[in-house]
Amino acid sequence: MADCLLTIALSKGRILKQTLPLLEAAGIAPADDVSSTRKLMLDGPTVDMAGISVAIRYLIIRAADVCTYVEKGAADAGVAGRDSLLEYRPQVYEPLDLKIGRCRLCVAGPARLVAAGPPAPGSRITVATKYDRLTAEYYLNQGIHADIIHLYGSMELAPLVGMAERIVDLVETGSTLKANGLVEEATLYDISSRLIVNPASFATKRTVLQTLIGKLRDSVNA
Ligand code: PRP
Repeated sequence: MADCLLTIALSKGRILKQTLPLLEAAGIAPADDVSSTRKLMLDGPTVDMAGISVAIRYLIIRAADVCTYVEKGAADAGVAGRDSLLEYRPQVYEPLDLKIGRCRLCVAGPARLVAAGPPAPGSRITVATKYDRLTAEYYLNQGIHADIIHLYGSMELAPLVGMAERIVDLVETGSTLKANGLVEEATLYDISSRLIVNPASFATKRTVLQTLIGKLRDSVNA
């Protein structure tokens, strides 16, 4: 029987693939094959952390939901993209840049529109995004009125069908933009994944969480 249960929320998808090697290097990888299982709650190993026996448990959830699970305390810690942290501003600690999931949050649009230059201050523009807050802030700072269309994915389609003049979305290799005839106009933020920690957990499980942060810091720097 372990002394402590530590629940860690992991983002599904491409971030998960890059997170697993860090967990392996830290000796805390989940037992199941994460890529093939349909289970959303996975057992990790029970490990010694500063003399405390800790059972690790993983939750496999959508990137945007990691902030919610950690903020609510359903998970003690999690791996969240800086994009989600900036957009949702959860009340969590952010002790470590994991230096994975690197990409950038960009404004992009059809090559023809972008070539004509950015919209003038005082003008109005329709923008498709899942980052409503960051998009509104970006255009507000330039005195442009942005009509925001909230989408959940495949943002690149919106300009192709005339639904929006610009998109604000993550760009990694640029191949999705290119394949859809879009070009970058501006970068809002450089993005990477961060370890986040619930503040109450940090108070009650401080030694364990400090050990976890140390192990993952070593993995990142290895
Ligand atoms: C992300 C993002 C872009 C694409 C960018 O989507 O929303 O569509 O990746 O990557 P690239 O620059 O390397 O082409 P993802 O595939 O994660 O799915 P989503 O549309 O559900 O967010």
